[in-house]
Amino acid sequence: MYEKIIKSDLSGDVRIVDLRSDTISKPTQEMREAMYTAIVGDDVYGEDPTVDQLEQKAAELLGKEDALFVCSGTMANLIAIMVHCNKRGSELISGDRGHTFRFEQGGSAQIAGVQTALVKNNEDGTFSLDELRERIRKNPDMHEPQTSLIVVENTHNLCGGKVLPLDWLEKVSFIAAEHNIPVHMDGARLMNAAVYLKVPPRRVVRDVDTVCFCLSKGLGCPVGASETR
Ligand SMILES: Cc1ncc(COP(=O)(O)O)c(C=O)c1O
Repeated sequence: MYEKIIKSDLSGDVRIVDLRSDTISKPTQEMREAMYTAIVGDDVYGEDPTVDQLEQKAAELLGKEDALFVCSGTMANLIAIMVHCNKRGSELISGDRGHTFRFEQGGSAQIAGVQTALVKNNEDGTFSLDELRERIRKNPDMHEPQTSLIVVENTHNLCGGKVLPLDWLEKVSFIAAEHNIPVHMDGARLMNAAVYLKVPPRRVVRDVDTVCFCLSKGLGCPVGASETR
């Protein structure tokens, strides 16, 4: 969190902690120095060793095959949606309080051309598995869009930062596998979930196919999100 010390004549120094959002966190001196001294190159040619290292570290940390460094969580989520829903007439399933549905400029519809089917979010960020089963289109005929992705959010922003239970995630993945549908985790604050659950980050994302996490939310980076699969 961003802290500010204000000089006060009345009661000495006053320490103000800004709790409006974890995105208000600012880079520490060490972070600024790391950025200043980083070896850089042209990432398009795969010649930026710092980006390569960061992507490798993200993939290892999450136990995934590969990772991609992008500028924002919105971008990372959209990339995942477009990778999984790569046919016209695709539909994804999301909780009705999901960030990709409520915010992100409706990018899944606007840019990816993907329809969202909603399931009602419970207070703890989960949703009913029965409702999930109902939403999945089984053997859709030519008139129907095809269920191509399930999106979960961890921690869950509009459910007050709740952490999804690991056994619930496993059940979602079993249902998804039955129907051959991938699962994407919007893990903007994934590291908070890992700390809360006292497990390594890779365990939190074990049951999902792709995940994004943000470096700019409470982790001290000015920008950045990582998308892994
Ligand atoms: C859960 C969640 N996902 C995605 C995002 C989007 O991240 P960004 O602001 O980096 O685009 C946010 C931003 O607050 C978020 O809370």
